Amino acid sequence: MLKKIGLIGGGYIGGVLTQEIAQRGLAREIGLVDPAPMVNPNDPPERQEVVKKQSVSIGKALGIAEGLPTIGRDIKIVGSKDYSSLKGAELVINTAGVPRKARPDGTFPSREELLTINLKVTSQVAEGIKANCPDAIVINIANPLDAIVFALYKKLLPPKNKLFGMAGVLDSGRYCYFVAEAAGVSVENVNALVLGGHGDDMVPVRSSCQIAGIPVEKFLPAETLAKIEARTRKAGGEVVGLLGFGSAFVSPAWAALEMAEAIIFDKKKIIPVCALLEGEYGFKGLFVGVPAIVGRNGVEKVIEVDLTADEKAALAKSVAGVKKTCDEAEAMLAKI
Ligand code: APR
Repeated sequence: MLKKIGLIGGGYIGGVLTQEIAQRGLAREIGLVDPAPMVNPNDPPERQEVVKKQSVSIGKALGIAEGLPTIGRDIKIVGSKDYSSLKGAELVINTAGVPRKARPDGTFPSREELLTINLKVTSQVAEGIKANCPDAIVINIANPLDAIVFALYKKLLPPKNKLFGMAGVLDSGRYCYFVAEAAGVSVENVNALVLGGHGDDMVPVRSSCQIAGIPVEKFLPAETLAKIEARTRKAGGEVVGLLGFGSAFVSPAWAALEMAEAIIFDKKKIIPVCALLEGEYGFKGLFVGVPAIVGRNGVEKVIEVDLTADEKAALAKSVAGVKKTCDEAEAMLAKI
């Protein structure tokens, strides 16, 4: 159990994280930050006064805290509209930003639009961490994942083990789920790995996919696997399209908690995470989805797996996409 976990963003994922951290007893205290709802200066003064008194984070923290006696968990949950409730957090999970949300006409905001908005939010997040818990290990969930982790790195300059992104657990989980469904076996039997960026070019690694330790090709024909891998690459968008109000929120929260528990219990668990590469897989200076040993110190060691020639080429393509987004992010950050 940690003394304190800080959660930035009290939306859908932040809410599930708060609930699960309390339920699992992972920390003595949770600090939940969210500025919403923000006062609109164009609203009539009476409306502004009402909004000033409202708070998503304080309300959500109170709503969950009131259930603690029922589940028998003696922890403290504090919400704030500013970043003060992060004070002293040893681990921070960031979900702050605007998710990919369908517009009323069914179209989505462009990546660039989302990037601009979320980089501004990320600058505030970095300031909040610096001021309140500069030594915390930080797990980022906010999208576009690779660029936001990169931006946090540029703003915080932490030791490389202390900052990483959540995507691989979720993407690999999706791959496992689709394989289990197609093969008609338990999800517990499937082991799979997805590498690269958290975008449509991510790399589901068929050569690492096994069912009860047996290569997946023994169970499913190549064309079924190709369809599953294509679906995995676009699985986030599939949920966004179905929900119509935002993106998946329970599976991302569970995925981040798998990483958090590996840290809290010093598990030394091999997990796919978005980590800074310094030559591994032939890449340098970029955050990329790779398997790593995760323990009390965060990302303790990146593991290099053998890839087929096709998988290597797919990873290079995915990383080129990550680099392009990070270059864009760096240029935008200079103007923020
Ligand atoms: N500081 C803290 N929180 C902020 C800030 C900020 N500067 N700006 C916005 N937020 C809050 C919003 O008020 C909102 O409550 O971040 C929260 C995001 O929550 P949701 O919109 O419900 O989004 P969620 O589904 O939780 O996803 C969060 O994770 O998977 C990614 O794409 C997803 O980037 C998105 C993030």
